[in-house]
Amino acid sequence: MTIQEIYQRAIKLGIQNDLRGQTVVKRKLQCVNEQYKELSSEKKKEFDTEALTNPFSDTRMFASDPQKQIKRILAGIDMDTGEVMLAHELSKDKPIDLILSHHPIGPALAGLHEVMDLQAEVLAQYGVPITTAESLMKIRLDEVSRSVSAANHSRVLDSARLLGYDMMCTHTIADNMVATYLDKLLKKEKKNIERVGDVLKILKTVPEYREAMKQKAGPMLFTGSPERHTGKIAVTEVTGGTEGSKEMYEKIAQAGVGTIIGMHLGEEYKKEAEKHHLNVIIAGHMSSDSLGMNLFLDELEKRGIEVIPCSGLIRIKRFTTKKKPTTKRKGKKK
Ligand SMILES: [Fe+2]
Repeated sequence: MTIQEIYQRAIKLGIQNDLRGQTVVKRKLQCVNEQYKELSSEKKKEFDTEALTNPFSDTRMFASDPQKQIKRILAGIDMDTGEVMLAHELSKDKPIDLILSHHPIGPALAGLHEVMDLQAEVLAQYGVPITTAESLMKIRLDEVSRSVSAANHSRVLDSARLLGYDMMCTHTIADNMVATYLDKLLKKEKKNIERVGDVLKILKTVPEYREAMKQKAGPMLFTGSPERHTGKIAVTEVTGGTEGSKEMYEKIAQAGVGTIIGMHLGEEYKKEAEKHHLNVIIAGHMSSDSLGMNLFLDELEKRGIEVIPCSGLIRIKRFTTKKKPTTKRKGKKK
């Protein structure tokens, strides 16, 4: 596969696994295209044209030659200069063709907040009025925009460029894959779920979470207790950039949700969720990020790309390579 093909595959999988549904995402892309057409030539110069075909601002490719064939990838959750040096060292034996990060880098980090409207639309599916969800999310989205604005966005890209490496980051596309995976798993196990403890038990059957448990980072209950009823379960805190608005918990509870599944949760958020009697199950950060990346990386490995995991990525494959059938020689009958 070329870098371009990997990137296109990532976007396609991100759209296919978006909790809002493919139609909604494609319609939004269409809107962006229409808005772009209306812009003045001056404004067009400032516009991120990547957004015309890629609805995920935190998933980007940084390649000198998008047509370069990729055979070996160094993939991890956070890829910084240390990981670029690691790629350089590992390349001495066999070349690394691409450095793949889960968390956004460069302009993908600066644009992280742009994917957060996804959360408002997903919450609307669970019954929060879309207008409330959008208003609260807008406040939080601006907060995130300001907080990432001061970061040294291009640091790792500069390191990669100096050593001649191409990079890519696949954030929301992979998080969408986790969200859909968990959503399907919980729907499949619906008849076995009554209490919060049942959900925890089911999550602990996922190989990445099982592995994380060995590292003391498995699924945990942040609020509520295992004996409590789950009520309506919402997979809301898994995709859509980063933690949403803590003011949203009141609205989520009012919408009839009893249990939330998330990746990580800050203390202030925990207190707010507790205040509104929500059970919050935190599946785990590195393990959930690994799950999403694994679902994506399987698609690449199936196509013959070798993946070297690093930086917190718990690599678990969900496919087996078919062995070529061995042709038996016919023995002479005695
Ligand atoms: Fe993450």
